[in-house]
Amino acid sequence: MLILGIDTSCDDTAASVVEDGSRIISNVVSSQNEIHKKHGGIVPELASRRHLEMILPVVDEALARTGMQLGDISAIAVTRGPGLIGSLLVGVCFAKALSFIHRIPLVSVNHIEGHIFSIFLESGPEFPFLALVVSGGHTSIYRIDGFREYVEIGRTRDDAAGEAYDKVAKLLGFGYPGGPVIDALAADGNPGAIAFPRKVIQGSFDFSFSGLKTSVLTHLKKYPHSKKEDVAASFQSAVVEILSKRLMEVAKAEGIKRIVLSGGVSANSSLRSYVKQKALDEGIEVYLPSLNLCTDNAAMIAAAGYVHFINGDMADFTLNPQAYMPLGGSAHG
Ligand code: KG4
Ligand code: ZN
Repeated sequence: MLILGIDTSCDDTAASVVEDGSRIISNVVSSQNEIHKKHGGIVPELASRRHLEMILPVVDEALARTGMQLGDISAIAVTRGPGLIGSLLVGVCFAKALSFIHRIPLVSVNHIEGHIFSIFLESGPEFPFLALVVSGGHTSIYRIDGFREYVEIGRTRDDAAGEAYDKVAKLLGFGYPGGPVIDALAADGNPGAIAFPRKVIQGSFDFSFSGLKTSVLTHLKKYPHSKKEDVAASFQSAVVEILSKRLMEVAKAEGIKRIVLSGGVSANSSLRSYVKQKALDEGIEVYLPSLNLCTDNAAMIAAAGYVHFINGDMADFTLNPQAYMPLGGSAHG
């Protein structure tokens, strides 16, 4: 069964064809990095305009690479939210039109759910498992008990970890996205050079990254000639330690021995190796998506969409995008 996935939640126009929720037949991502780079972050208006230009060629390309026709597609899965409303609107309207004209069933997917389901495109774990979704827009830990059984255990109270990476990269004079730049710089720096704070919200499993970002700013104001590699490595070691420590605490509290990392920041080399090591020490299995499946893509939307489709959870033409769209219930009460 073939699902066509479409994602335009943020700054990448993505389309993919996936078979039976797990086998990627084609996966096309058109990045807007060149457009947003000079602004040090995503400019929403420019993002939606670019999606409008790219959506048709990207979907065409995803289909062309399979050698199949739209008639071979069983369902179209599209990201409804969360994300930038103008960006989401392009994908949702396009998917609805395609579904209407070609009479192909339509399925709506939560972008966060998509990130979590990216692991099923490779070797996914059994339920229940914990999922750390860590990207430019989100930093949360979920307990995943089964399809549509998602409970948020902890989340950021302010910036997402990826947002902190992007802001710190900007402070260091680099463009968007900052994560890969900091990751590369940190490899040549001393993670113990600067003692940045490792603040967590006591009495909960929540995160906070805005203080860390401010500490980097304060440090750079005081020591403008600091070695960039050391600042990057010290900042990164704080982020990685905060995320890994919380993950292990949640795993212990929930009694769950399987952890999935997902979202753009899960492509971070230090986070991947640190979590793997910590998990090994605790007897926990870690599941890491390949790097191209960590960042935004539509294969993950097709993978999640497949599960909605086989469970009869369809969307109709009243479907509208939703900028704010929490996933599942919350452990916060
Ligand atoms: O999942 P994603 O592509 O989009 C969102 O849903 O937000 O994540 C993008 C974020 C950006 O903040 C980017 O800087 C970060 O992921 N990122 C990284 C790395 N690669 C991408 N952060 C740290 N290390 C990386 N290697
Ligand atoms: Zn994402």
